[in-house]
Amino acid sequence: MSRELRDEQELVPGYEGIAEFFDLFANNTDIPFYVRYAKKQGSPVLDIAAGSGRVAFPLAQEGFRVTALEKSPSMLTEMRRRLPRLPKDAADRVNIVEADMSDFSIGRKYRLIIIPGSFAHAMSTDKQLSTLKCVRKHLASDGLFILDLHVGALLPEDLKFEEPKATLPDGRTVIRSGVIHTDMVRQIMRVDLKYTVIHASEGYSEDKREIEVTSGAAVIFNREADLLIRMAGLAIEDQLGGFDGRPYTPECDRRILLLRSH
Ligand SMILES: C[S@@+](CC[C@H](N)C(=O)[O-])C[C@H]1O[C@@H](n2cnc3c(N)ncnc32)[C@H](O)[C@@H]1O
Repeated sequence: MSRELRDEQELVPGYEGIAEFFDLFANNTDIPFYVRYAKKQGSPVLDIAAGSGRVAFPLAQEGFRVTALEKSPSMLTEMRRRLPRLPKDAADRVNIVEADMSDFSIGRKYRLIIIPGSFAHAMSTDKQLSTLKCVRKHLASDGLFILDLHVGALLPEDLKFEEPKATLPDGRTVIRSGVIHTDMVRQIMRVDLKYTVIHASEGYSEDKREIEVTSGAAVIFNREADLLIRMAGLAIEDQLGGFDGRPYTPECDRRILLLRSH
């Protein structure tokens, strides 16, 4: 897991084969935050890069009509597999759309647009701007766009980690470890993750499977984000430093922007 940081073109988001395990490692503190803003804004909600439905599904269960836009075939399959597990009325409120966040046209406007933990997968400045422009096009005149960013200047240069073991409903356990390499000059990160899935059933020997995936993410600095937002015809209404609602200060490593059409 110590290959070199490659060019941004080669670093595509790596979610194939791990969609079933991805949200086991999410801390979910953002879900009540998004529900709170959905209550203020109302339906419909557009969840961009929705993954396996981690945020979209609770929103639907709270009564909101949600479009869940996603590009990864593996994530889409997992989201479709999980959808029927929701109560029928909630499942009926979810519309899954297969599309690229930097180039989509749904033909309707949304009162709330969110992009939980995913904007940095738009690796180039062009892709970031086209993503923001697509959002702007789909935002209702009184709509709110919540852009959740990691502050580029505070990202770790290099990091090695192993997360606490997680357990699936069928008893399999999953360990996720990873290595992050950050190139602050080219403003790209390479994230190598290893999922170790262990299936231990009584009377049988342990079955252990390892899946390795690599993803790229952009390092986005604050003034760069501000400029992109302005260029896309959006304006910052407020900024927060965490999903607990604390105000954004320069010490915060998260910058959550509340944006409106300009
Ligand atoms: C970190 S995961 C977050 C998933 C979900 N938002 C959540 O919070 O659980 C990033 C997601 O972005 C999706 N993604 C990456 N690039 C995308 C693109 N160009 N268009 C749409 N989705 C994309 C990935 O497939 C993945 O599901």
